[in-house]
Amino acid sequence: MEILASDPAGIARAVQQLKTGGLIALPTETVYGLGADARDGKAVAAIYNAKGRPSFNPLIIHVADLETALQFAQVDAHARLLAETFWPGALTLVLPLKVQSGLSSLVTAGLETVAVRIPAHPVAQSVLRAFNGPVAAPSANPSGRISATTAAHVATGFADADVLVLDAGRSDIGLESTIVAAGPPPTLLRAGGIPAEEIEATLGQKLALPEAGEITAPGQLSSHYAPRAALRLNAKKFHENEVSLGFGPMPATRNLSPQGDLVEAAANLFDHLHQLDDMSAPIAVAPIPERGLGRAINDRLRRAAAPRGR
Ligand code: TXA
Ligand code: MG
Repeated sequence: MEILASDPAGIARAVQQLKTGGLIALPTETVYGLGADARDGKAVAAIYNAKGRPSFNPLIIHVADLETALQFAQVDAHARLLAETFWPGALTLVLPLKVQSGLSSLVTAGLETVAVRIPAHPVAQSVLRAFNGPVAAPSANPSGRISATTAAHVATGFADADVLVLDAGRSDIGLESTIVAAGPPPTLLRAGGIPAEEIEATLGQKLALPEAGEITAPGQLSSHYAPRAALRLNAKKFHENEVSLGFGPMPATRNLSPQGDLVEAAANLFDHLHQLDDMSAPIAVAPIPERGLGRAINDRLRRAAAPRGR
């Protein structure tokens, strides 16, 4: 962990860190984000690793402007109206993902939607412009702790991690962005920095609410990607009728990481699951160690293997 002043030299180093697959703490007007190149699966896996998140919640991508957002997401009339009214600012829009967006599937946790935000903070804007690409960033707090609104909060949370922290003082809003799914119907997924009433006034209609119990963790919604095929976990042996997902040195249809590297495995998880699912056979998964990112990988696999109907 190293704290940098958010002057041109600090910003240049942060951009270099992003370009080489590293992590930065990005100041925004809502809270600080823990950011990485959203197209680099290993860099995105490193975010989850540093946060110690026991599950793969999808992440928000941050871009400099609407034109860049359109490279990754589809924007309908409602979404465009919200984008033009509230961006740059404390609004995150969940939009249909463009095919061949180039984003790591770990960013979207395998979903067909992507959360996009254009922050207004001048330092965030400078970084995003100079980087000229999408930055995936959850709030820069260790999992289960409160969001960071100063560089010092980030430094305490990530003392031992390889993170460059851009210090831009206190976040003005100090509350995460409001998250709206484009729908239809436009739906409030998380209350935040922009009051829902303002969004409703712009749209000229009420925002729908997700079903009871879903709002606390939008990333865990039932729409979350689950393979069609049956999934057998902790398989010590693979059967002939199965396709297989390996981990560590072993023959398998797909291998998350032949060297047994959990960061690499996380980066490959959703792509490999999608590919195996397309093969229309039951899927057997080798044991994955329950440590570090292995916990999040196993959490995801257990959800994917759970009985359907929700
Ligand atoms: O203000 C903010 O939004 C901050 C700054 C850094 O931008 N970021 C932030 O990220 O709060 P995070 O990861 O702590 O919260 C993002 C939320 C998660 O609850 C996640 O489940 C949800 O956004 N999310 C992301 N992608 C989604 C998607 N495709 N569908 C539904 N929910 C999504
Ligand atoms: Mg958070």
